[in-house]
Amino acid sequence: MAKDTFYTAVDIGTDKVTSIMSRVGSEGELKVLGTGVVASQGMHKGQIENLEEVQETVRTSLEEAQRYIGKGVPTGVYASVTGTHLTCLNTREIVDNPDDVGDISSRLLDRLIRGSFPDVSPTQEVLHVIPSGYHVDGLGGIRNPVGLHGNLVEVEAHVVIGDAVSLRNTVKVIEANKASVKSLVLHSLASAEATLNGDERELGVVLVDIGGGTTDIAIYRQGQPWYSAVIPVGGSQLTKDLSVALKTPMYLTEEMKIKWGSVMPESIAAEEEVVIPSFQGQPKHSLSRRFLCEPLHARMLELIKMIVLKVRQSGLREFPPGGIVLTGGGADMTGIVHLFQKTLGGQVRVAYPDGIAGLPAQLKKPAFSASVGLLLWGIKHQGETRSSLNLGRSMPGNKPWGWGFGKKRAAAVK
Ligand SMILES: Nc1ncnc2c1ncn2[C@@H]1O[C@H](COP(=O)(O)OP(=O)(O)OP(=O)(O)O)[C@@H](O)[C@H]1O
Ligand SMILES: [Mg+2]
Repeated sequence: MAKDTFYTAVDIGTDKVTSIMSRVGSEGELKVLGTGVVASQGMHKGQIENLEEVQETVRTSLEEAQRYIGKGVPTGVYASVTGTHLTCLNTREIVDNPDDVGDISSRLLDRLIRGSFPDVSPTQEVLHVIPSGYHVDGLGGIRNPVGLHGNLVEVEAHVVIGDAVSLRNTVKVIEANKASVKSLVLHSLASAEATLNGDERELGVVLVDIGGGTTDIAIYRQGQPWYSAVIPVGGSQLTKDLSVALKTPMYLTEEMKIKWGSVMPESIAAEEEVVIPSFQGQPKHSLSRRFLCEPLHARMLELIKMIVLKVRQSGLREFPPGGIVLTGGGADMTGIVHLFQKTLGGQVRVAYPDGIAGLPAQLKKPAFSASVGLLLWGIKHQGETRSSLNLGRSMPGNKPWGWGFGKKRAAAVK
């Protein structure tokens, strides 16, 4: 494996900030060296609302992850980004490879992919340009055309664009902690890295990461990302609805949601009761568990409707054969698979982060799919440097990020 053997993931979520430090050994095995999970502050619906508070939680989380390693691990950070400012599009770009030039070279491919960068406004930044397939002289389905003979080379790419200030703020909170940002990664693509299997990606699948403040969607087709979207509703909305319905404070409601909550109230016996503990001078009292679950059911149905809308906006008429893969902390909700299946049909599963042997038990939960996925993303795209993406249209502060197009770019088109 190449020199870059340390990988650090920082997933700045609305509910929690997770830092994971890891190392890839000589046999290619990944070992988690330290983990820091800290309750978030200063985040709202996946975006930084209070820079100082987020900086502080990132610091605590990084320090916790570093506790057993000591200082000075040589590492750049792979950090997740989400928020409704992120949009996507699919592009096509063609380049001519004259007869006297010979076989298709990686330089030509670089030029082709650089050409795929869309023009964005000065307030936006290109986060990802992910080549999804090539055509050579009209022949499609080519994953890597380097070395092939051909005159007309065409690339299809999935492009993700975001608000420059939001993206820069994520870089800021990491760099304020004396770490460097190797790459910013769209949250849903990071989650997909740790959860989707090859068959699902090929068949077509809808990945849904239900977090605290957002629900992040990524649709894969023919092995590659094809659509991504962010819905500004997550598990905390369910807690809020329940809190309003029961008139209970948020901290207590969150506990009750996790303990007794279900989005399938009809599966709960009509006579089952739960005891709401006393709070703020209110006496404890019993309540129908079905009644408690009604607002959760209603909000999850709303969320499903929004997911369907996004899938339609993607251009798909129906859900792809690989079905729906649910992850993120919200996917731990009782009854969720049942409700999705009942409402939408098809394959539905809850995914736990996978792909790392010996992953600490603490991280084997849907809530950690994105943070584990960031590490896997880093390993997969290790040769790509954080280089200027905007190719001259560099952003203020000259801190561009994301996909580089260096020597190992071919890894991106595997
Ligand atoms: N067992 C459970 N049952 C129901 N909900 C749960 C359970 N465990 C966690 N959650 C919910 O998951 C949400 C947090 O998910 P997660 O940790 O993935 O969020 P995050 O990554 O911090 O946020 P985001 O990705 O939206 O910025 C919370 O709303 C929490 O209530
Ligand atoms: Mg998250």
